[in-house]
Amino acid sequence: MTVQISPSLLAADFARLADEANAVASVADWLHVDVMDGHFVPNITIGLPVVSALLKHTATPVDCHLMIADPDRWAPEYAEAGARNVTIHAEATSAPVRTLRMIRSAGARAGLAMNPGTTVEPYADLLPEIDMLLVMTVEPGFGGQPFLDLVLPKVRRARELIARHGGEIWLQVDGGVGEETIARCAEAGADVFVAGTAVFGASDPAAAVEYLRASAQAATRHASGFARG
Ligand code: DX5
Ligand code: ZN
Repeated sequence: MTVQISPSLLAADFARLADEANAVASVADWLHVDVMDGHFVPNITIGLPVVSALLKHTATPVDCHLMIADPDRWAPEYAEAGARNVTIHAEATSAPVRTLRMIRSAGARAGLAMNPGTTVEPYADLLPEIDMLLVMTVEPGFGGQPFLDLVLPKVRRARELIARHGGEIWLQVDGGVGEETIARCAEAGADVFVAGTAVFGASDPAAAVEYLRASAQAATRHASGFARG
């Protein structure tokens, strides 16, 4: 498993998005962009016009997390605009197979997200349709919330389902991921880590990314040592 860090622009200065993206460009694997519509979550952020504008100003792959009520309508357009990953919520989609396939056929990776209260097992049959599973470690909608440890057993079960499936599916965690919590996520089997406050709230965002990566790598090595016995 390769550790990847996806800094969330939700914690950045929205009036200086390109500059903020550049601040982590040399170290980040992805730029995580949170799209919220005020319906699926009680907050509104940015939509397709701003994502399209940002894509012109960054070479870092963009990871779009759609927290919107109608992802079936909008997700393919984010992929067509050039987002390299588009994640839809299991709770919001009414045609997941069609939408995930449209994301992939537009050339992006397809992600499926689930809220803390959503069980992963009913989605096992969708694993062939996705490139990444996102297990939310807070209720979606806002940055800076405390990490929910109650989600860690689900991260473990998700990793087991992925291992049984046998494909190359990434397992992302998002919400409250930082210095204090990233090791627990890595030990549970996550390999893609979204961090907003922990990166853009730091005085040196690039150094924060590197620190988080080193912590996650150490915890991943530790966990795989256990697995080997
Ligand atoms: C929350 C968003 C997250 C948010 C995480 O709904 O999906 O991506 O930016 O922020 P932190 O890392 O501050 O918890
Ligand atoms: Zn997010």
